[in-house]
Parts: sequence; structure tokens; C-alpha cells
Amino acid sequence: MSTPRGVKIGIIGAGGIAHTHARYYRQIPWVELVAVADIIPERARAFARTWGIPEEHAFADYREMLERIEMEAVSICTHNTAHRAPTTDALAAGKHVLLEKPMAVTVEDGRAIMRAWEGSGRILMVGFQPHFSTQYQVARRIVEQGVLGDIYYAEAVAFRRWGIPGGSFLKKETAGAGALVDIGCYALYTTISLMGSPRPRSVTALAGTFLAHQAQGEQRWGRFTWRAEEVEVEDFAAAFVRFENGAAMVLKACWAAHADSIGRPFFLGTRGGMALNPRGVQPPVELYFNQQIGDLNLTCAPQGLAEVEDWPAKIQAFAEAVRDGLPSPIDPRTVFLTTVVLDGALRSAREGREVEVDPTY
Ligand SMILES: NC(=O)c1ccc[n+]([C@@H]2O[C@H](COP(=O)([O-])OP(=O)(O)OC[C@H]3O[C@@H](n4cnc5c(N)ncnc54)[C@H](O)[C@@H]3O)[C@@H](O)[C@H]2O)c1
Repeated sequence: MSTPRGVKIGIIGAGGIAHTHARYYRQIPWVELVAVADIIPERARAFARTWGIPEEHAFADYREMLERIEMEAVSICTHNTAHRAPTTDALAAGKHVLLEKPMAVTVEDGRAIMRAWEGSGRILMVGFQPHFSTQYQVARRIVEQGVLGDIYYAEAVAFRRWGIPGGSFLKKETAGAGALVDIGCYALYTTISLMGSPRPRSVTALAGTFLAHQAQGEQRWGRFTWRAEEVEVEDFAAAFVRFENGAAMVLKACWAAHADSIGRPFFLGTRGGMALNPRGVQPPVELYFNQQIGDLNLTCAPQGLAEVEDWPAKIQAFAEAVRDGLPSPIDPRTVFLTTVVLDGALRSAREGREVEVDPTY
């Protein structure tokens, strides 16, 4: 058996999530982490020491890293509002890109990223690890086989009862926005892609900081720690989205709510309905049909499919696509539609009215 061709990877942004990328790249014997860049030089050097990257390959300027070190691909792990320049520069330098979610907070940044990608011949994969979960793959197979017919309505849900993150996630300057982009982007990607990537037409939304400011000082909830006075972004958002094909979607995203649930993601089609259960609840996917014999609820546990660990699967899928010259395992054109909705929802919430959105780039 021949040894697979090696893939050399650089990391841009050496904060929290970059270590998760490194951990899973390290598990792939034919991947080599060759360089790292962070605007905080000590952070880049510490990252290099942790992951066995030569210290002279730790840079404060990612452009210098791209120029000086030979690599096929980069993982971009900078905060939300710093996704655009590293992505467009890396694509222009001929590198494949695994960009952390969300693609961008503003549609302008999303357009710049898409224009840099189109025609580049390079992979642009936005890191939505739930794409690789068994639940998503089963749901996708169901809709692609036409089991639901035409999907005319769906609900996208991203829920934490009391899970406000800290650090760069709370600042407008770094995060751009709050729960809507941080976790709402996953729910949006799942829902829009399962709906067949319809083009959004208009959005009306509510977004606000309703609970995060209530307590003062350091707060803890499970693995989350934050300081109430540092929260500059929304902790709850809800949006109603209309698509050009006549379908509609409700999106709900919250970091905190006085509720044990704000509902399951579900899809209504002309032939059947589908609901997705929260992680750990069986079955992961439920299907509903009305038969002539009466109401039949068919609950569908994936048969013969092992539960997939989505994080290592995301890193492996990107590395394999780079090695084998495959397209992005996650279509950036669908991801761009999520950016269009996020941008529209934030604009609508600010203006207090429904806004038109433009899904072209
Ligand atoms: N997929 C997931 O499960 C997941 C989980 C957490 C975070 N994320 C995403 O990853 C991104 C980073 O999150 P984090 O928690 O690691 O944030 P972080 O604040 O811990 O790290 C971001 C790092 O980027 C660096 N940086 C900023 N601008 C830079 C630039 N121009 N060049 C080089 N370095 C730069 C910062 O100095 C910092 O070290 C965010 O977009 C976030 O949404 C994804």
C-alpha cells in the first residue's frame, strides 16, 4: 500500500478553537502542521511549542507566513469579524481554506470571500462540524430522496438555556453579533441546506440582550463563564425568512432563556414532515406522514449507521479534499446564503422592520 501524499497546513489565529483543529490534524498521520500566525506573537509562539511547530515558523503577520512557508492549506481561526482578510489573502496565495464559522457577519465580507473563492480552483470550507453528524447525513439522504416532497416551511433552532460565552464572543468589535451568528449560524446552515438551498428574499427579526445584563460580576453556567457587564451583543434573536421559491423559515437562537426548550428543528413538506431531536435524544430523526389508514408517525432511527464524532470528521474531510483534489465537502454557496440571512436579520432587528435581502455575490 502506498503512503498517502502528505498535506502541509498552517494555522491563522491561535486562540481557543485553533487548538481543537491542531488536535485533530495531529491524529492524521499524513498531515503536518507547519506554521502558525497570530497578531499576539506570544500566543503564536506558545501554540507552536504546544504542537511541535518550529518556533521560527510562528508569525505575528499571517501574510509573512503565507509568503515564507510552503503549505497547501490553512485553517482560519480568527474571531468572526477577522475572517475576511485572511481568507481572501490565503485564497489569493493559492491555499485551500478551512474557515471557522460563521463565514462572515456582514454580507459585504461574505461577498468578498465568495468573489475571492470563485474561480480560484481552491477549496473554501466553512467549519460547520454538525454537517458530518449522523443526524445531518441521515436527514440529508431523506430530503434528497424526495421523501418529504417540496419543503414549504421549516424552523431552525439554536438553543442554550443559560450558556453565554466569554472573551471575544461578547464584543461587537470581535464577534460582530451574539447568539444569532455564534450558534444561529449552525441551525441556519442545517436548515437552509436541507431545504435545498433556496435563495432568501426578505427577513424580519427581533434581537436583543434580554437576560445577560441582569446579574453583575462573574457568572458561571456549566462550562460557560462570562461577566455580565462585558456583554455587548444579543443573547436572543428570532427571525422570519421568506425565500424566492415561496417557502419560509423561522429561525430562533439564544444563549439564555427562561425555558427548557424553544422547540425542535422541523421541516414541513408536501409529502411528509421531519423533525430533528437534540443531541442524545433517540431517534435523531423523526418522520411524519398522513396515510389513508389514519395518522402514522414513523420514527426513524438510522439503521446500520454508527454515530459519527463530528469534529474529527470535519478535519479529516477537509484534509482528504485537499489531498485528493476534491471539492469542498461543504458548499460555500449554501453557506453564503446563511450570511445573507444573518446580515438581513441583524439589519431588520436594528431598523425594527422587514428588510429585503440580496443573495447575489
Ligand atoms: N466550530 C466550532 O465549534 C467553534 C467553536 C468555537 C469557536 N469557533 C469559531 O472560531 C473562531 C475563533 O474563535 P476562538 O474561540 O478561537 O476565539 P479566540 O478569541 O480565542 O481566538 C481568536 C484568535 O485570533 C487571533 N487573531 C485575530 N485577528 C487575527 C489576524 N488578523 N491574524 C492572526 N490572528 C488573528 C486573536 O489574537 C486570537 O488569538 C470564531 O469565528 C468562532 O466563531 C468555532
